Amino acid sequence: KKDIRILAFESSCDETSTSVVKNGSEIESLVVATQIKSHARFGGVVPEVASRHHIEVITQITREALAEAGCTWQDIDAIAVTYGPGLVGALLIGINAAKAASMATGIPLIAVDHIMGHISAGQLADTIAYPALALQVSGGHTEIVLLKDPTHFEIVGDTRDDAAGEAYDKIGRVLGVNYPAGKTIDQWAHQGKDTFNFPRAMIDEDNYDFSFSGLKSAFINTCHHADQLGQKLDKYDLAASFQAAVVDVLAAKTIRAIKQYQPKTFIMGGGVAANLGLRERMEEEIKNLAQPPKVVLPPLKLCGDNAAMIGAAAYNLYKEGKFAGLDLDADPSLEL
Ligand code: KG4
Ligand code: ZN
Repeated sequence: KKDIRILAFESSCDETSTSVVKNGSEIESLVVATQIKSHARFGGVVPEVASRHHIEVITQITREALAEAGCTWQDIDAIAVTYGPGLVGALLIGINAAKAASMATGIPLIAVDHIMGHISAGQLADTIAYPALALQVSGGHTEIVLLKDPTHFEIVGDTRDDAAGEAYDKIGRVLGVNYPAGKTIDQWAHQGKDTFNFPRAMIDEDNYDFSFSGLKSAFINTCHHADQLGQKLDKYDLAASFQAAVVDVLAAKTIRAIKQYQPKTFIMGGGVAANLGLRERMEEEIKNLAQPPKVVLPPLKLCGDNAAMIGAAAYNLYKEGKFAGLDLDADPSLEL
């Protein structure tokens, strides 16, 4: 049987990325042009700045992805692109590059949901047996997703307010950590102790939903209060206490979902899936279950935004003949 090669584009937020993925599981090339430095001084992603950066690099990194994979357009079976959710102007740069390439070459187009991409990053790490359960934790989303197969799924849990990554970034601001703050807070957490005992919202509730805004407020209030008293709090203990609260809730709810749904595989995806505290905790807790599912944690560089995960997700759609037309448009608030 012939190998299927997909050239994928990702430009939903602050990384422009292209990749060639073989058979939905093998990365033949991956180029990620990050804009983090350009946004850091604004404390978050500036949409207009993001679009400009995407447009500056997209042609060049398309050539690089093909060259690195040793491919010409003749070797490509489909062109995949993220069409949402994300920043509309940013999404449109990837979509227009993909549409132009599809129109010029006649290669079919596949539209991919960014969140499905994060979940599909697992395919690049290991084989996934279904049903699978995914904890999808990123800057914009925090969801527990039950997958019957690679393209049929049900959201069993969601955040009621802030996403986990968003909470990291917001408390990072208070600690003077540049956006995106998750990685630094994670490192600090490993050097401190959980001394503050911040709230674990909804941890005992009989559902799989999350809420992180109360934790964020408790954290900010603690810092402001200490400020007013002229006290200096230990930033490592603050980070450790915050992370312990986030990880406790994510782990408790996910383990309960695993017990109920008995998936064959547990997958983690999204930027926060790079969190070392969360990865260790999930592996530990799953190991102790009576019937542990196989655990698939993508390597750190495939947790954040990248085009390889989009190529992996697109392969599943390719096999089902789910192609997009040249009238494809961005859907900034696309829901899984
Ligand atoms: O998936 P992603 O690259 O973009 C979105 O789709 O949102 O996720 C970015 C988020 C940011 O909020 C960032 O602070 C967070 O992932 N993040 C982390 C870690 N690395 C990145 N959060 C916690 N611990 C980390 N090690
Ligand atoms: Zn993402």
